[in-house]
Amino acid sequence: MKNKIMSVLSTSDGVVSGEALSKRLGVSRVAIWKHIRQLQASGFAIEATAKGYRLLAKSDTPYPWNFGPLAEKVHYYPTVTSTMARAVELAREGCADFSIVVADVQTQGRGRLQRKWQSEPGGLYFTIVIRPEIPPSLAPLLNLAAAVDLARVLEQSHSIDARLKWPNDVLVDGGKIAGILSLMEAESDRVNFVALGIGININNAPDHLDQPVTSLRRLIGCSTSRSAFLKAFLDSFHQRLGQDFPADVIAEWKQLSSTLGQKVKISTTTTDYEGIAVDIEASGALVIKTIDGDMRSVVFGDCFYN
Ligand code: BTN
Repeated sequence: MKNKIMSVLSTSDGVVSGEALSKRLGVSRVAIWKHIRQLQASGFAIEATAKGYRLLAKSDTPYPWNFGPLAEKVHYYPTVTSTMARAVELAREGCADFSIVVADVQTQGRGRLQRKWQSEPGGLYFTIVIRPEIPPSLAPLLNLAAAVDLARVLEQSHSIDARLKWPNDVLVDGGKIAGILSLMEAESDRVNFVALGIGININNAPDHLDQPVTSLRRLIGCSTSRSAFLKAFLDSFHQRLGQDFPADVIAEWKQLSSTLGQKVKISTTTTDYEGIAVDIEASGALVIKTIDGDMRSVVFGDCFYN
């Protein structure tokens, strides 16, 4: 009931009367009033007057009720070890397609290739459980699609020109603003689930470790709502997956790529390849032309610009 009350208040600009809430949610005005008192006691800034109730501060925190029709699928935690771990648990328990685990802080945030992902307050950390009807070989396209949509949200909401670095980093002016990590459980011909984890530097100030990094706050000069960013991303990514996925993903990714045409080194667990990145295949594999003129297609690895 509290989620429902918050959902109504957060989508209304003005005061909502106790009577309107009670009719809409099918409970008595007294019950509404009791829930409001408890919400206030938990720290929510709700003004209560004779005319009704008004949410004073729209939240930066990604509470479920901020996500409209997706609200029921959003699992919010102030702190988790990693949203990946919680999402995999939920997926194995059979959670719905497009369930989302989001946290303010991760104590064991994971990056690609066994790296750590700094996960202090102010950043946005979430994992989406996806049950796509695609063969396992096409699962990397989900990462590319997510990277495209992250870049689009940066452009549409903040006029920021983001570029994509293969396999799935989002960069602004050469600094990494977002990274994507995915895990898959599959049988030979069908995907059981993909857990797609995304970390975005929004209001945090990540340290430069092995590569330049940036954050949205650094770029625009002020804090911005993590919840609004997540909603914009989820709405467009959800729509994309519902519409003929993976239709235009490769073409869109190519348009935003900073990798194609670059001199690159790709490190895989077994070997390194050096050459010019010339193309990306329909599966998402990167094609590089090596110094010997050979064409190599690389499915997985870490990409460095030389
Ligand atoms: C990368 O190395 O670029 C990928 C980083 C992915 C980080 C996100 S934050 C949310 C999710 N939970 C994790 O522990 N990792 C991913």
